[in-house]
Amino acid sequence: MALLVRFAVLVVLAAAHGAVGQTGFLSIDCGLELDNTTSTTRGYKDPDEGIFYVADGGYVDGGENHRVAADQEKGHFRSDLTVRSFPSGVRNCYALPTVAGTKYLVRVVAIYGNYDGKNSSSSIQFELHLGVNYWDTVRADGDEVYEAMFVAWAGWLGTGVPRQHRRRHAVRVVPDDPYDRYWWQMRSDPLWMNKSTGSTIKQNSKFAVPSHVMQTAVEGVSNGTIIKVTRQDKTANKFMIFAHFADFQDSELRRFNVSINDIEPSLQISPPYLSTGTASNTEWYSTKNGMYTITLVATSASKLPPMLNAFEIYTLIPNDNPMTFETN
Ligand SMILES: *[C@@H]1O[C@H](CO)[C@@H](O)[C@H](O)[C@H]1NC(C)=O
Ligand SMILES: *[C@@H]1O[C@H](CO)[C@@H](O)[C@H](O)[C@H]1NC(C)=O
Ligand SMILES: *[C@@H]1O[C@H](CO)[C@@H](O)[C@H](O)[C@H]1NC(C)=O
Ligand SMILES: *[C@@H]1O[C@H](CO)[C@@H](O)[C@H](O)[C@H]1NC(C)=O
Ligand SMILES: *[C@@H]1O[C@H](CO)[C@@H](O)[C@H](O)[C@H]1NC(C)=O
Repeated sequence: MALLVRFAVLVVLAAAHGAVGQTGFLSIDCGLELDNTTSTTRGYKDPDEGIFYVADGGYVDGGENHRVAADQEKGHFRSDLTVRSFPSGVRNCYALPTVAGTKYLVRVVAIYGNYDGKNSSSSIQFELHLGVNYWDTVRADGDEVYEAMFVAWAGWLGTGVPRQHRRRHAVRVVPDDPYDRYWWQMRSDPLWMNKSTGSTIKQNSKFAVPSHVMQTAVEGVSNGTIIKVTRQDKTANKFMIFAHFADFQDSELRRFNVSINDIEPSLQISPPYLSTGTASNTEWYSTKNGMYTITLVATSASKLPPMLNAFEIYTLIPNDNPMTFETN
């Protein structure tokens, strides 16, 4: 099952498994005014996304509805165009239905779109909490997407237990993931080249990274290039990284060391040909300054530079709830 909220906020709640199709998803178009003069009594199916959105009125108390400015509509889905803003109240809450013991992915999309006519997104900043736990801080200066995974211990997300906060990166954005994971575009770097293949990449059943995601990669510009991917998340102190590799050629040796924050001895790998291999830390790592680094260094025997197709970073949301319920 899955839960999605759009702020020109959109909330999508999806159970983390079997999230294919619409069953198990709740997609909420925040700020949507339902027109009771038509048959559209619950919501609408977005023709571009193929997703059925319901209005947020039944899931939230308070707030007021707005629309993004007409000149900001271009390039957005319909669900991005309406906004619920909360000018009053210390905390404003969406209560979302969940089934205890079920694993969920919740995604919040926050788009400013000059909905207030002030043309100043920098004035908008607020915290997201899952239950009583701090999740992330929204700075609506772009089209921002926030995701968390959690196992519900009660019937409503308002009291759910969050587990992991995820950020995921691929060389390009691909929305057709069997588990509804979002894949963001990797930043570019002058020391990286783009590589791609038209061949299908075999999925690893454990991580199920879509072939589309694995068909593009970055490669160091030369044998000696060290690929270093760095992120900082100052609010998180425990993290888990999954780096996904697949080679597009098998005629020459490509071998490199993968290390994550230089915590463990580095792992020496040769990416499998047209098939996905994954390197990850074996347990949650701690970091004081919130820095996470993946470092790829070619070994002396390698004929080719290191490469990276995609990676996922999960950070642990501290769980301050007095009660916990965890499953794997
Ligand atoms: C639509 O809703 C408005 C406000 O709640 C109400 O006054 C009106 O009678 C409703 N129209 C219909 C056709 O139900
Ligand atoms: C909004 O601000 C930007 C600069 O931040 C400016 O380029 C743009 O013209 C402004 N738009 C309006 C409608 O005032
Ligand atoms: C690689 O692809 C990305 C995404 O399309 C692009 O932004 C970047 O400029 C490309 N880098 C090179 C070196 O072509
Ligand atoms: C790669 O890692 C191994 C240990 O796993 C180490 O012995 C070797 O020196 C490393 N090579 C490079 C180029 O960092
Ligand atoms: C990498 O080194 C090998 C020899 O060790 C050489 O054949 C190859 O051309 C080099 N590739 C690049 C991209 O420098």
